[in-house]
Amino acid sequence: MASADALTTRISALKQEYHRLFGDNETVMLFNAPGRINIIGEHTDYNGGYVLPAAIDISIIAAAARRNDRQLHLKSQNFPDKVTASLDGLSFDEQRTWANFPLSAAWALEKHGIRLPGADIVFQGDIPLGSGLSSSAAIEVLMMKTMLALAGSTIEDGLIPVYCREGENGFIGVKSGIMDQFIITFGREGNALFLNCETLEHRLIPFCNADAVAIIVGNTKVKRELAKSAYNQRVEECAEGLKILQEKIGRGVIRSLSGISREEFDRARSSLPDPVGRRCEHVIYENGRVLDATDALEKGDVKTLGKLLIASHTSLKELYEVSCKELDCMVEAFLQSDDVYGARMTGAGFGGSAIALAKAEGAADVIENARKIYHEKTGICGEFYICRIADGAGRLKG
Ligand code: GLA
Repeated sequence: MASADALTTRISALKQEYHRLFGDNETVMLFNAPGRINIIGEHTDYNGGYVLPAAIDISIIAAAARRNDRQLHLKSQNFPDKVTASLDGLSFDEQRTWANFPLSAAWALEKHGIRLPGADIVFQGDIPLGSGLSSSAAIEVLMMKTMLALAGSTIEDGLIPVYCREGENGFIGVKSGIMDQFIITFGREGNALFLNCETLEHRLIPFCNADAVAIIVGNTKVKRELAKSAYNQRVEECAEGLKILQEKIGRGVIRSLSGISREEFDRARSSLPDPVGRRCEHVIYENGRVLDATDALEKGDVKTLGKLLIASHTSLKELYEVSCKELDCMVEAFLQSDDVYGARMTGAGFGGSAIALAKAEGAADVIENARKIYHEKTGICGEFYICRIADGAGRLKG
């Protein structure tokens, strides 16, 4: 979707907006942070489990320069308001909507003793908001990289997702895991990334050649208002399940649900009340699917990978209950085409996007067919595109 030309056009509009708002400044720096899809491994990250995401070719870009005070002046070309906040005494403010996400990254850096300068920053993004493609984590990582550069400070790359997650947990109040910030920091063109969210060990897994297999994103256009509280509720249900299972299994240290084998779980399953048992079952079996999917991808076995995606969606729908009728409809619409290997919701759920893996030669027809079915069944015009796997966040030239 995003060609080099499109990015050049976005950068030039961003620079113009910067100059219009903040005047000429020779020291303006440019940064980019991508959105992400998760191929498989959903709601496993905050349970110490495995995930297999990839950064994609939609992104947020920023033009930024430092100020001589401790004020942050933030403007996004995607929103009408300009936000001003002081770095002294930063706290979450509902009225600020989108700007809380970049501010959470500044808050986390300051919490770790990195004193930041004030800054004038303009953002522009082409990641659809609320689409499950992680525009919030993208702007967090983008802000963190930008503020570190303006401060002339560096931290280990591995700390960037850790600090951004702390911002999301402690400043925004979503008890999210580390997957999104991690892939946005460490993504690499053409590769998925296998991550163990407990140890943070990770490795790149080359994805199938884009000329053979297309990754299609289908945005349901449904944004769920309750996503934050429903997400935190799932986190709590898993914590409750872990406590019961730790007692029931009664062996050494079990730090997370992901430290429990499928056999141990099956033996202890009846001690869990509903829906906690179903939540835990999803997590423990989804971890197994991520391992199998990574293996399939390494062998170039797209058919097996596709089946695992379908099984993951069924589990998210029936056991974890984070799908919705539009996401189910989108997945079913994709699966009507013979050229589709598999499809599932991606990201937190409750709305947002589904992905499908399809034969590249048939991808345009798959989209047309899914668009029609989805519209007939829901009355909504879904948004579709074929995404490419892109690099993680970094500084841009120009
Ligand atoms: C959101 C969160 C992630 C992860 C996914 C579900 O994207 O930010 O940490 O939990 O949901 O897998």
